[in-house]
Amino acid sequence: MANDASALSPGVNSDPFSPPADSALWRKNFLLGAATASYQIEGAINEDGRLPSIWDTFSATPGKVLAGDTGEVACDHYHRWESDFDLLSGLNFEAYRLSIAWPRVMDEAGRPNQKGLDFYKRLLGRLKEKGLKTFVTLYHWDLPQHLEDRGGWLNRDTAYRFADYADLMSRELAGQVDAWATLNEPWCSAYLGYGNGHHAPGLANDRFATQAMHHLLLGHGLAVPILRANDPASMKGIVANIGRGTANSESAEDRRAAHLFEVQHNAWILDPLLKGAYPEDLFELWPGTKPLVLEGDLKTIAAPIDFLGINYYFRTNVKSDGAHGFTEVPLPDVERTQMGWEVYPDGLRDLLIGFKQTYANLPPIYITENGMASDDEVIDGRVEDPQRISFLKRHLAAVDSAIKAGVDIRGYFVWSLMDNFEWAFGYERRFGVVHVDYETQKRTVKHSAELIAKFLAERKERN
Ligand code: FCB
Repeated sequence: MANDASALSPGVNSDPFSPPADSALWRKNFLLGAATASYQIEGAINEDGRLPSIWDTFSATPGKVLAGDTGEVACDHYHRWESDFDLLSGLNFEAYRLSIAWPRVMDEAGRPNQKGLDFYKRLLGRLKEKGLKTFVTLYHWDLPQHLEDRGGWLNRDTAYRFADYADLMSRELAGQVDAWATLNEPWCSAYLGYGNGHHAPGLANDRFATQAMHHLLLGHGLAVPILRANDPASMKGIVANIGRGTANSESAEDRRAAHLFEVQHNAWILDPLLKGAYPEDLFELWPGTKPLVLEGDLKTIAAPIDFLGINYYFRTNVKSDGAHGFTEVPLPDVERTQMGWEVYPDGLRDLLIGFKQTYANLPPIYITENGMASDDEVIDGRVEDPQRISFLKRHLAAVDSAIKAGVDIRGYFVWSLMDNFEWAFGYERRFGVVHVDYETQKRTVKHSAELIAKFLAERKERN
């Protein structure tokens, strides 16, 4: 394991993780971790009683995922978790964010699947032995297919099934989890899953998207008090992806378009959670798409949370579409990643500061995902990923400046611990700080991870 200075390539003197002395990143209580998600790394889709998920179905459908890739094997983490955790702790990470595969732990009748539960108990037990903080997401998109067959998130009943699942998991895993997140990125589940069909289950209708979102958020709101009752010592929260929208010109129409972009990406989720109401502007953007909301739902959704997880990746430059909405105008000559996403750290800072102004009750924040894909290769046993190093450095600096501006941010998780199944983009897009050779399942620590490890070792010594 390369985790000390002597392991750095000769001639590489860039140490990007040596933030200024007054940076919050040096603080012992600012948590630094790595994140993954079940479907993206586990594989073993037919083992120990796991049921099919919507991502098994979707990825098996021709044309849905780049190169026809599926999560059937992924990083084979189901069998390699012990050595993966040695890698994780060898890199000096202090926290690990993982998700539980719902179809592994419950059968169709809602009965527990002991083998699936035991898998996660072993995982969390080992993380605790290693002294890592555990951040557990209940739903990172792998809905059991049998629930989708009954309408999935378009069916209100799925919210109640989710609450049952949260109940089971928090009874079984109480004491092993530091922070529970109910959902990962409901925007992606609702919009990409039911609004434009780019993700499982692949439906495309704006009205479906708003209804699916409502049931996702309802599931969250129903789960929070259950998690609280079953596992009082842990934190409870939710993870939202946020998007920065900027206007292509100073015209009122384009500025309005940028505003609507952020309503659609951020306020659609954060307003019901933190204000107990959907933003009216959303339905200007998508006329006639108001979801069916029953009395009391918004109060349930706005249940107090202990933290808000924020995932940030890029900004989108937009102009008015001449009607109700916005269209993207990609900026020329800007730095982009393998995903084509613009590298724009200021967006993270600006959004965080904006949220503090908008939401009086903004809970403490953890950046639960941030990172980038690059076309990394192993050359002579090493992986150089200079763009990622620079990306992480600049985004950590953006987080530090938001903290200095008064936003309560308590930690940062890099996406991702290792290269993995990047949803509709399959295995081509590499987000890991550890490289995975999918033919051999060999892991190779990338240069970025070496530098993170070195910084974390230094920080430990100083504190
Ligand atoms: C986020 C997802 C995560 C990963 C990154 C790149 O939207 O939560 O699983 O795929 O994007």
